[in-house]
Amino acid sequence: MKKYVVVLLSVLVAASMLLSACAPAAAPTAAPVAPAATMAPAATAAPASTGTAVGIVLPTKDEPRWIQDQTRFSDALTAAGFTSEILFSQGDSAKEKANVESLLTKGIKVLIICPQDAAAAGAAVDEAHKAGVKVISYDRLVTGTDAVDFYVTFDSMSVGKAQAQYLVDHNTAKGTPLFLYAGAASDNNAFLFFEGAWEVLQPKIADGTFVIKNSTEAVGLQANAKLTRDQESKIIGQVTTNWDFNTAKNLSEANLTAATAADKGTVAILAPNDGTARAIADAFAADKDVKGYTVTGQDAEKASVQYIIDGKQSMTVFKDVRTLVKDAITAAVTMLGGGTPKSTNTYNNGKIDVPAAPSAVVTVDKSNVKAALVDSGYYKDTDFTNLSGAAAAAPTAAPAGTAPDCTQATVFCVGVVTDVGKVDDKSFNQSAWEGIQQTQKDGGADWIQYIETTDSKDYAKNIATFGDAGYKVIVTVGFNLTEPTYAAAKLYPNVKFIGIDQFLMKDDKHTDWPLANLVGLVYNEDQSGFLVGALAAMMSKSHKIGGVFGTDAVPPVWRYGEGYRAGALYEDKKNGTKTEVTNVYHSDVGFDKTFSDPTWGADTAKSIVSKGADVIFGGGGKTGNGAVDEAAQLKVLAIGVDTDQYATLPEADAYLLTSALKPIPAPLEALVKLAKAGQFPTTGFFLGGGGYAPYHDLASKVDPKIDAEMQAISKGLADGSIKTNVAPAKP
Ligand code: BGC
Repeated sequence: MKKYVVVLLSVLVAASMLLSACAPAAAPTAAPVAPAATMAPAATAAPASTGTAVGIVLPTKDEPRWIQDQTRFSDALTAAGFTSEILFSQGDSAKEKANVESLLTKGIKVLIICPQDAAAAGAAVDEAHKAGVKVISYDRLVTGTDAVDFYVTFDSMSVGKAQAQYLVDHNTAKGTPLFLYAGAASDNNAFLFFEGAWEVLQPKIADGTFVIKNSTEAVGLQANAKLTRDQESKIIGQVTTNWDFNTAKNLSEANLTAATAADKGTVAILAPNDGTARAIADAFAADKDVKGYTVTGQDAEKASVQYIIDGKQSMTVFKDVRTLVKDAITAAVTMLGGGTPKSTNTYNNGKIDVPAAPSAVVTVDKSNVKAALVDSGYYKDTDFTNLSGAAAAAPTAAPAGTAPDCTQATVFCVGVVTDVGKVDDKSFNQSAWEGIQQTQKDGGADWIQYIETTDSKDYAKNIATFGDAGYKVIVTVGFNLTEPTYAAAKLYPNVKFIGIDQFLMKDDKHTDWPLANLVGLVYNEDQSGFLVGALAAMMSKSHKIGGVFGTDAVPPVWRYGEGYRAGALYEDKKNGTKTEVTNVYHSDVGFDKTFSDPTWGADTAKSIVSKGADVIFGGGGKTGNGAVDEAAQLKVLAIGVDTDQYATLPEADAYLLTSALKPIPAPLEALVKLAKAGQFPTTGFFLGGGGYAPYHDLASKVDPKIDAEMQAISKGLADGSIKTNVAPAKP
């Protein structure tokens, strides 16, 4: 009992220091405050019977994407009591202008327009502005004019990035043929999508993973990490689909005809949106030399969702049109009331910086298609066939079968929301998901599901997906989800939350802590790091050891690294040795990259080894895995992290000395079971344990004296006679 109190206290102290250390970083970046009028409900602000207040012009009825928008607009406008009219331009700028003019004669006050051609639409919106009408550019930006008051959009750069990241994650073989396709050059978004994609693909083209097969312009520019608009134009000129299925079909067929069999095999295809993806995928599927393909998409069109379920399209980027429509209507209502819509960003349209508030997007593939698009209420399950089979066939083994009604008191559903990362990351997210899978096997849950976060902006939304669906327990993985989880726990008092790696305590921002329904599953990583650091120092022949980590801004990562250093020092003092410890943290990049950069991990390990180190500790998701793999390649000792990586990185087994442990599955299962039994802890914390993994293949290389010392250190750490003296967070 006494020990528990001591440990808990140390965690509390850790938490308080941590919070004070992190307070400034955690403060939200101030978004412009909306005037009160912005928040007026649509129904009260909309003039119901004074003619058509809002005119909407959409590009074409021939693409399901814009029918989605029409439907969602009609639903939302009817609900809000608006009078409005929606017209389509049918891919014709003259018709678009005529549509705007017709709406002006009807006395509209706000024009919401998605341009057919960004530049050509300038004349139409100029006319609207002259008539005193406010202009909202919708999804696509009207360019070259100052007559745009607001831009309602998704974050289009992140659409391209998500597509490219998917290709990168699913194609690791060197020399994978890459086929690039783009949208219409008349659409500003086509450039943003391509720009985002290029940013992620280019390093993988440069390192030889991908080889571009269908654009000489792109090949000529492949050394450039960033492209100018002109350079993008040149590539897009060669690979444009013009947002047209037939163009996409003909172009991909022509590319396949021109390519040799050796240029095919298993290929990666950047397709800009769903309509073109289906056409391109069909062409590739029909080619006998194509043995397999990964193809991207965008829009979550129903036909593509079915393609994903059927394994014909790999992914889509879901842009929740309801959000865009809501944003557009909110902006229109604000303008009708004389206010200025709330913006978080600006986009330059060649003439002015247009204020905007871009919305986040979600990557959807077979593994989460049901959770993201059906369980979330966006589509009905009857819209698709074989939906339940989709998840079952997914490589990451999401549960099969139809989701039960989790809102029923007797149905115990458990959801996992990952940090930016995948449930097959061989690390943290994977351990959490495996723990929950085991819990279900052991009868601790009736239904389990996960949502893989692709953008940190979506944490709250992803948690809410489970909260709204009546899940009984929601597990959120990682330090970064601390605040969204605390907020969600207050929002969903009947749901039990388990926040892995999340430290909180009562303070100005968390006045209600501890909440009866929120537990942080936390660890003394410094102790696990200390153990492997001591082992590394005792095993090193050169007395030089290294560590390659994710960012030191995440306290558990810092504690691993500094614990490692402290452990080596402890042995040095005992043995009269002097071990040089080189720890490198990947703190030079953002959270989107720091844990998912195996190339950096490998390069850093290589550089430390080149200076004489003969032990490398890799700590930080895929980045750390890259270091462990590289150490094994270089035939020096490697130390894994979090789980026993003997199982998760078999390629490194021959050199894997041990792993610093942070057991996730067992304590997670224990917590879920406590929740089910109505005994969920109300202390705010749960300590998950630690230690080091067996030496496996290297057991015969570890001297029995060293092993005895490791056991003595474990005991000393547990009873408090050995202290790591590591600060809870980077000072
Ligand atoms: C939109 C996409 C759409 C494409 C073709 C883009 O501007 O953002 O959602 O697929 O146009 O219509």
